[in-house]
Amino acid sequence: MSTDNQELGSELDEILAPAAVADPYGFLDRLRETDPVHWNARYRSWVLTRHEDVGAAMSDPRFSSDRISPVIARERRKERPDLDMVETLELLNGWLVFRDPPEHTRFRRLVHKAFSPRIIAAMRAEVERIADELLDEATAKAGRDGVIDLIEEVAYPLPAIVIASMLGVPSEDRVLFKNWSDDISALVFGAMEDPDRHGRAQSGMAELVGYIGALLDRVRVAPGEDLASALVQARDGEEALTQEELVAICVNLLFGGHETTTNLIANSVLALVQRPDQAALLREDPSLASKAVEELLRYDGPAKAVVRIAAEDVEMGGRTIKAGDRVFLMLAGANHDPEVFDEPGRLDLLRDKGSHLGFGIGVHYCLGATLARLEATIVIPRVLERFPALELADTDLSWNPVILTRGLQRLPVRLTGA
Ligand code: HEM
Repeated sequence: MSTDNQELGSELDEILAPAAVADPYGFLDRLRETDPVHWNARYRSWVLTRHEDVGAAMSDPRFSSDRISPVIARERRKERPDLDMVETLELLNGWLVFRDPPEHTRFRRLVHKAFSPRIIAAMRAEVERIADELLDEATAKAGRDGVIDLIEEVAYPLPAIVIASMLGVPSEDRVLFKNWSDDISALVFGAMEDPDRHGRAQSGMAELVGYIGALLDRVRVAPGEDLASALVQARDGEEALTQEELVAICVNLLFGGHETTTNLIANSVLALVQRPDQAALLREDPSLASKAVEELLRYDGPAKAVVRIAAEDVEMGGRTIKAGDRVFLMLAGANHDPEVFDEPGRLDLLRDKGSHLGFGIGVHYCLGATLARLEATIVIPRVLERFPALELADTDLSWNPVILTRGLQRLPVRLTGA
């Protein structure tokens, strides 16, 4: 483990200090300005904050995504390994996002046959219908004060219903997914301060995997038009997805497509409520939606960081990242790098310079980016259009204290402004 950079004060290690959770951008700016390739002694990881370094590391095969295997190996080496935990981690280990080429290449090619941009584009009318229905229900639910939690009523259910509906999960079963998903999320997105995260993830994962296994068995016998059937049938020459890969990708899609999109919708609505001039631009010209969503992904996107493990020693910014070291690639830092974006702290829906890294880059570039964009470009303009006087109902907002994602616990808004 590298320790050649510990001269900096521990304040810059406190990535989950309340102030850094509330405003990661100020924290990451300080890090980028003072020590862009930083060794974080608290989390025993490197933290990269420059756009150039983050982009380069994501495109560099010397940085591996296979970060679950070392944890499994560590656990197995213990005198009394927690075998339930090992089992959960083995399941996680099969996710596309944790695999390296060449295994990743074959796996992704097959998944892409089923989860293609064409299939996602065909979901437009369904996403519009679901968004309208949720907004109707939210309006009906708002009390006399007109206040709702936008996350609970819209941002949370929308992506869950969309991906579950794509996979062919019957609507009455969808409620099951909320708890499973929350439990697994605590593990995957590194709720470092939550001591019970492994226990909760274990039960959530086991139940979800059992459910998906049964769903796949059903569509094998009686295939439908859904994504689960398409995944079962996906072929590349002679090759098909194995049962383990099928379960892993279904769980990964259900899960990966959920919390991130929820946070994109909620963070975006918050940003627009806080910047009425920008909200007005989108209200006046809904055709701006695609451009606006890219800026919202940059400005306060849901993926704050991704993780890699150095597969060999790598020199970067005058430091040596040693083989085996963990590296946090701070997408939020990259997306606010003034070398790439003018006035990065300003929300500018008309911005046209610079490419954000909100969906990553390279071989692991978000597989669900087209779907997330579709959902966001449909629901965000609708929220603004239906509620012209939308305002924040409580300015005391709590952000989830996790390193990898950026999301609110609740987003109380007043729909009518009454
Ligand atoms: C706004 C919403 C979303 C954001 C910000 C987001 C972000 C990301 C990022 C940054 C990565 C790269 C991870 C890495 O390099 O380690 C990724 C990968 C991935 N995302 Fe998303 N994602 C979103 C929505 C979705 C949706 C809707 C789905 C599917 C339904 C999805 C499925 C995946 C999968 C399967 C991968 C792994 C791809 C691979 O390893 O080849 N994501 N996502």
